[in-house]
Amino acid sequence: MGGKFYITTPIYYVNARPHIGHAYTTIACDTIARRHRMLGDDTWFLTGTDEHGQKIERAAQGAGKTPQQFADEVSNAFRASWDYLGLSYDDFIRTTSDRHKKGVQALWSKIRDNGYIHKGTYTGQYCVFDELYVDAVGPGAPCPDCGRPTETVHEENYYFKLSAFRDKLIDLYTSQPDFIRPETRRNEVLSFVSGGLRDLSISRSTFSWGIPVPDDPKHVIYVWLDALANYITAIGYGSPDQSRYEKYWPADVHMIGKEIVRFHCVYWPAFLMAAGLPLPKGITAHGWLLFEENKMSKSRGNIVRAETIVDVLGTDALRYFLLREIVFGQDGSFSFDALVQRYNADLANGLGNLASRTLTMITRYFKGEVPYPSHTAAHSPQEDVIAVAAAKTIEEFGSCFDRFQFSRALEIAWTLVSAVDKYIVENEPWALGEKQDEASRARLATVLYTSAEALRVVAALAHPVMPEATAKIWSQLGLGDIRKVDLTQLRWGQLRLGTKLGEVQAVFPRADKSAIERMQKMEDKNNSGAEAVAAAGTPSGGTSVPPPVQARAAAEASSVAAGEASSAASSAAPSASAKKTVPAIPEGKIAIDDFVKIDLRVAQVKVAERVKGADKLLRLEVDLGTEVRQLVAGIAEAYTPESLIGRKVVIVANLAPRKLRGLESNGMIVAASVEGGNPVLASFLEDVPVGTRLK
Ligand code: MSP
Repeated sequence: MGGKFYITTPIYYVNARPHIGHAYTTIACDTIARRHRMLGDDTWFLTGTDEHGQKIERAAQGAGKTPQQFADEVSNAFRASWDYLGLSYDDFIRTTSDRHKKGVQALWSKIRDNGYIHKGTYTGQYCVFDELYVDAVGPGAPCPDCGRPTETVHEENYYFKLSAFRDKLIDLYTSQPDFIRPETRRNEVLSFVSGGLRDLSISRSTFSWGIPVPDDPKHVIYVWLDALANYITAIGYGSPDQSRYEKYWPADVHMIGKEIVRFHCVYWPAFLMAAGLPLPKGITAHGWLLFEENKMSKSRGNIVRAETIVDVLGTDALRYFLLREIVFGQDGSFSFDALVQRYNADLANGLGNLASRTLTMITRYFKGEVPYPSHTAAHSPQEDVIAVAAAKTIEEFGSCFDRFQFSRALEIAWTLVSAVDKYIVENEPWALGEKQDEASRARLATVLYTSAEALRVVAALAHPVMPEATAKIWSQLGLGDIRKVDLTQLRWGQLRLGTKLGEVQAVFPRADKSAIERMQKMEDKNNSGAEAVAAAGTPSGGTSVPPPVQARAAAEASSVAAGEASSAASSAAPSASAKKTVPAIPEGKIAIDDFVKIDLRVAQVKVAERVKGADKLLRLEVDLGTEVRQLVAGIAEAYTPESLIGRKVVIVANLAPRKLRGLESNGMIVAASVEGGNPVLASFLEDVPVGTRLK
């Protein structure tokens, strides 16, 4: 280790708002990226949004917006969701950004100059939902992939000479068996390519929402060529500064869902070969997150938003559940019952209980200092068993995790948690603690040291999966910043004697039945809103319109990093706008009555401090003239707490309060969203009194 590591998620279509299906891929990548950082790799983690194509153009039309407005809103919602989840992406690429457009045109020109693009005429079927040319079906026939009706297109197009790459691709799959994982997907691709490849139409001229073909702007570049190129444009391909591209390309892992294997494993390597560029090292496809047996997707109206789970159980609960419950690569079901059951069993009763009882007893019996384990009389073979098990856990966890067998890796780590739990029960440290004789004290010290050391090992291993809780455990163990741990050096016995523990607090409070009901209610409400809008706005072609932005003060407080000011405006009256008809107002516009519902005020920052364990959040106390309010804002990467004290800011003052990382946020601070950069707070050139309303 100690090399470079570049990992990507697919870029998400902006025709649907983020849900835990999208979060699943992004969380998996985040976890892998975090582990690589802890292994000392220079890591780059890319995510973003896919914003061009006919599907998006139609969805925007249906919503009465320009494609760009529409893409801005949904892209911001993705970014806000990732920030709300505390995901550690290094860059967020948007396909409507200039850097991307230039890179795609550079790639096109390279492929053309190398002789792999020619003009031709395409008559056949096109599936707008999949943005896919469909062979072998007649006019009106359903798409063999998704079952939606296809449309007949007759266009003069540019073609990519995909047929020239059949043998090279087969060579690639056979010489690098790990190029496509898991093996089932590799076999599917191999058999698809072995059957022969036809040249691929890579431009469209019947609509314009895309990147113009260089020297022929009547055509836009096929959305999949545009989208796939993000993996190189984001790191600078086609820009004057190639340093990041040179450092990180080829990608180590493209993580994708199983439905987009063909695009990634056939088209993408062929495009790269045609351009003479190195190929990614590997493509890994995971399965689908199902809800009541169906793929979770907005068009089915069965989505669950990550924010709901975060608000009720915390981010780590969602992360742990997704990676532990589902065998990576296979489909897996999501249900609130299963989530809460897993949370209580493995987190509240498992790791959380181990942490709280070990640390509480060290606090009580050893004044909060890690005690000295005995190597003589008070030492029993049980300690050796735990030490050996921990060493084995470190090794096996790593080898499973690095093969993306997350569920197995976590199962292994939790076997250690259970073993230590049993060890504690058998040794009854609470009984030893009542005795004052030397032998009992020595035995107590040994048992608690052993438990604390096992806790340390599990926390370090599980940190990439549960960054927040493990960071808390780490600081309660008195060990400082867990992100600085070098996983390559993790061994049994490194917990220093006499380490002073931090304040002991429960990391996973037990969840009761009401947690399930609360989450269910939040999502029922969301999904019924989505249906109402979809029914009203489904354009031809089967694509549907995203639901209105929900009134989510909490998401918006953190989404300030993405500057969701405009979405915040529409959130004042969530689904009401979808149901109410106001004939005088053109679709997509709001009436002044809607605008005045938003109480924008000038406020002055009195207190600003970082939120523990959340890199992006600041806790602020702002003076509104009539009261001082607490807000939580996702601006910690852009502003130091000190720089904000005394500063006048604009806040949305009438958002319903929400909890963020356990802190109540009473309003949202307004900032500009700068693509690829930090948020910039709205401010005034003139001095404006505190409490003044903006209207
Ligand atoms: N825009 C394309 C990808 C272009 S990449 C160059 C696309 N976007 S998507 O938004 O429809 O889906 C992207 C990914 O989201 C899927 O590949 C998958 O990783 C994830 N998921 C979306 N719904 C999902 C589930 N229900 N379950 C698991 N993953 C899901 O395809």
